Amino acid sequence: MPATVIVGLQWGDEGKGKTTDFLAEQVSTVVRYQGGDNAGHTIVIGDDTFKLHLVPSGVLYPHIAPVIGPGVVVNPATLIRELDGLIARGINVSKVRVSHAAHLILPYHPAIDRAREARLAGAKVGTTQRGIGPAYEDRAARLGLRVEDLLDPASAATRLARVLPEKRALLAALGDTNPGEAVDEVAIAALIAAWGERLRPHIADATDLVQRALDAGEHILLEGAQGTLLDLDHGSYPFVTSSNPIAGGATTGGGVAPLQIDEVMGVMKAYATRVGSGPFTTELTDATGERIATEGNEVGTTTGRRRRVGWNDAVPLRYAVRLNGVSSIMLNKLDILSGLPEVLLCVAYEIDGKRVDRWPASGAELARATPIYERFEGWSEPISGARRMNDLPGAAQRYVAALEEAAGAPIVLLSVGPERSQTIERALRRRRAGGR
Ligand code: IMP
Repeated sequence: MPATVIVGLQWGDEGKGKTTDFLAEQVSTVVRYQGGDNAGHTIVIGDDTFKLHLVPSGVLYPHIAPVIGPGVVVNPATLIRELDGLIARGINVSKVRVSHAAHLILPYHPAIDRAREARLAGAKVGTTQRGIGPAYEDRAARLGLRVEDLLDPASAATRLARVLPEKRALLAALGDTNPGEAVDEVAIAALIAAWGERLRPHIADATDLVQRALDAGEHILLEGAQGTLLDLDHGSYPFVTSSNPIAGGATTGGGVAPLQIDEVMGVMKAYATRVGSGPFTTELTDATGERIATEGNEVGTTTGRRRRVGWNDAVPLRYAVRLNGVSSIMLNKLDILSGLPEVLLCVAYEIDGKRVDRWPASGAELARATPIYERFEGWSEPISGARRMNDLPGAAQRYVAALEEAAGAPIVLLSVGPERSQTIERALRRRRAGGR
């Protein structure tokens, strides 16, 4: 019953979509376990680029069952748009399943997200404004509607009638006095009925499905969205998302038990990026940052926002490896650093005049940290054609070795370009019984 968790070790956008897609050949089921359409996974196959927000990237393989687990917040409009877009491109989506227990993002959730961010002004989180936080709030408050409610419009209508007055009052208090259809009972009820009809064949008991697959000895991949440093409990609060992207989140959100997970693959980029507000100790605001952002096409898949860029940081990397119990790492976008005269790696912080090796528990402490760098010679050659470690220039190999040493976990996959084929497999990964 092997299960692998794919988890982001930074602030999201580490290239988890490519990792999942690369490993997908070996597995029968790919499960999303948290987040919603705030995520954006880009997969490049030949001349085709697929951008997915909700449907797990395994959908591109006919043998895979892509599952949206109970821990995900689902905007049905996005899900339907994505399914239709995939169908239009000839992809078979009949195996896509969405948990009956996943919570819905309804029109008032993005409206609340936007209104709250507008009020926070200078202190805003910089959310994707997809309604993620407000939907998770309703889940915790036991006010949310779930995917199963799409199949029972009468019960959905009762629950809506109960919740809408509260939403109207909240929006008014947040300064949105004209929320229109976002809180229109009739309009939302009509949407629910239509969404239910369209999604009916895809709604399932996802936990049972996952457990049956594990019982049958099949290999499951649990696909995290966002990253460790955006984790609600373990990230740089309050500049975090409202779910648990860490590997532990795969148990609650994906419906697997801790001991059913036997591999945690951490994913990171050769450098760091962050979207939205919050401390970013190694941020580069100079020409080097500009160059990395441009070469790396660091623009958000979901919002189109330019990502902030910086050097890789071993301090949160060590923290993320421990917290997630990472057993192996995929390093992405090493090719983007080609042509830089030198590459820096932050190895510790200076906080209030003291050297600190540990990720600070408090956001205020983190905000006062300045980076202590180790400097590495750069390499000028393009490396996109490299397929073995020895194909890389010595300087690139030394940088990879330093990252691996800092992380304390083996880098087994190394990506040198967006395509599936542009990947160096460093160590032979175990092939499991029941997988492909
Ligand atoms: P939310 O998830 O939309 O509430 O946004 C909270 C924070 O997480 C913001 O800083 C977002 O920019 C960030 N965030 C959310 N989803 C992603 C993602 O998929 N990649 C990178 N950052 C994200």
